[in-house]
Amino acid sequence: MHPSPLKMTSFLLFLVFDFVRGVYIPDVALVQFYLWGDKTPTSLQFAAPVMAKGEDDLAPYKDFLNITSVLIYDRNVTTCDGINQKAAFWATRYYFHEAVGNPVMAFFSPGCSSAASSLAALARSFNKPMLATTWGDDSTFSNKRRFPTLANFSPYIDYSLSMFIFRLLNHFNYNTVGILCDDANDNLSLYIPMCSNVFDSLRLTYNFSASRFYVNATDENNVKHYLEEIRAVARVVIIIAHGDRIRSIMLAASDKQMTGGDYVYFTVELFPSARYFGSIAWNTGDADERDADARTAFRSLFKISLRSPDATPEYRNVTDEIKMLSKTRFNYTYAPGEDVNPFAMAYYYALAVYAQVLNQTIAFGENPNDGANTSRTMRNRTFTILGHDITINDNCDREADWTLHQMDAETGMFMPVLEYPAKRKVLEPSRDPVEHSVREIVWYKRDSPPPNEPKCGYRGVKPACKPTEQRYQYEQLVAAVVNLFEVIRGMMA
Ligand SMILES: *[C@@H]1O[C@H](CO)[C@@H](O)[C@H](O)[C@H]1NC(C)=O
Ligand SMILES: *[C@@H]1O[C@H](CO)[C@@H](O)[C@H](O)[C@H]1NC(C)=O
Ligand SMILES: *[C@@H]1O[C@H](CO)[C@@H](O)[C@H](O)[C@H]1NC(C)=O
Ligand SMILES: *[C@@H]1O[C@H](CO)[C@@H](O)[C@H](O)[C@H]1NC(C)=O
Ligand SMILES: *[C@@H]1O[C@H](CO)[C@@H](O)[C@H](O)[C@H]1NC(C)=O
Repeated sequence: MHPSPLKMTSFLLFLVFDFVRGVYIPDVALVQFYLWGDKTPTSLQFAAPVMAKGEDDLAPYKDFLNITSVLIYDRNVTTCDGINQKAAFWATRYYFHEAVGNPVMAFFSPGCSSAASSLAALARSFNKPMLATTWGDDSTFSNKRRFPTLANFSPYIDYSLSMFIFRLLNHFNYNTVGILCDDANDNLSLYIPMCSNVFDSLRLTYNFSASRFYVNATDENNVKHYLEEIRAVARVVIIIAHGDRIRSIMLAASDKQMTGGDYVYFTVELFPSARYFGSIAWNTGDADERDADARTAFRSLFKISLRSPDATPEYRNVTDEIKMLSKTRFNYTYAPGEDVNPFAMAYYYALAVYAQVLNQTIAFGENPNDGANTSRTMRNRTFTILGHDITINDNCDREADWTLHQMDAETGMFMPVLEYPAKRKVLEPSRDPVEHSVREIVWYKRDSPPPNEPKCGYRGVKPACKPTEQRYQYEQLVAAVVNLFEVIRGMMA
């Protein structure tokens, strides 16, 4: 059998580059932009140790890639507002004045959506890959025709949350929701876009009937007012709010008799972090003597989170070392039980994937300086890193794994009940890690999900549901009107 001409050519190319590779070891700069401090999950104190460990773990590539780290930050710039104006300036300065000898380079953007967008635009004009670990502030960030060199490793991308919520609600036969968006509290740069995205996607992409209400969640009367509005249009409520606000919202629902099993509530806590998202808890030491009410109300509440990574031995080792580096080199000591957060961990995955793809690019004799090609090479692939599947979709976005949690009635603790692994793209029941038994969802006062719409409608006034007496009167009235009409017509004829 003769090899086809095409195969022959690539084989020859291989030989040529195999030879060349002996001398060609590209310099590779990992250009990282950070917020100083610890104000965000990807600020320097969290993300830089992850990158440092990731770089150590690139040792197997040392005969193929000469890797250097470039950290760009300013001690005065600690917030996204601060870096949004600086990032593009820093990147331009680095690219034109500081990058020595035109190395192969990748930009690792700060976890700030607006800075990431401006860097992505520059990365496009320089044709350098940009590896992001943040959600965008608008949908253009996902538009890879606009940002062809961008690969997003963020564990959470807004459209993926909407997709998960859709699958979840669809699984329970729901298609009508009321959405409560807290717009008076912390972390609005997360919650407001999240709210708009869930609302728009459910309505426009998934054809749900969705109503959205902006609420001041610290104002009890305001919450009750909007709960009443929702009562008239839905039985499924999505609450997008800071974790510290959830208890009081559920108590307001309880006061409104909306926690008796006819309503279902979903809220989002990307990962457990009192520091960034507050805590979704019913128990507050009973200061207001309402812990018991809150606990009952929480039986109608579900929590949506990023699936926490399986604690593979590789993962545990790496995160232990990251915590050590944090302490010794970056002056941050992890509290006992505190995990490396998933947005910071995203840097590790991004770096591992970048090195693998770059090495492959060079092996194939392609141009390692072509950023659009580098990010294209990542698409539609699942990489196994630290024993985890990191799935990059055909839009060069990492697909998120999600988990649904429910409060265990016995222990009062939230436990996973459903999982959505991106690799398999199906909802699967959660299992107890020790006994491997399936964790069943428990519906408060029912054995199945409450209906999307009650038999008598949201307001309880569907004619079919009128008591017989009333219905009889109603029919009589209709008959009378028809008769009258007939009489009038007779008179006019
Ligand atoms: C590796 O890259 C650095 C920075 O560009 C450069 O100073 C150094 O000489 C390079 N080392 C080798 C072995 O090429
Ligand atoms: C940082 O802020 C301090 C005080 O606000 C100021 O004195 C200093 O010049 C600033 N440094 C830079 C590099 O902007
Ligand atoms: C959207 O939903 C409405 C009401 O549930 C239904 O009548 C309509 O056919 C749906 N449209 C599409 C495009 O599926
Ligand atoms: C929200 O309500 C609280 C309590 O009524 C009030 O103090 C606060 O000013 C309100 N916030 C906004 C942004 O309206
Ligand atoms: C990098 O690519 C070379 C081929 O050019 C291959 O031999 C080597 O195993 C790769 N290194 C890693 C760590 O995958």
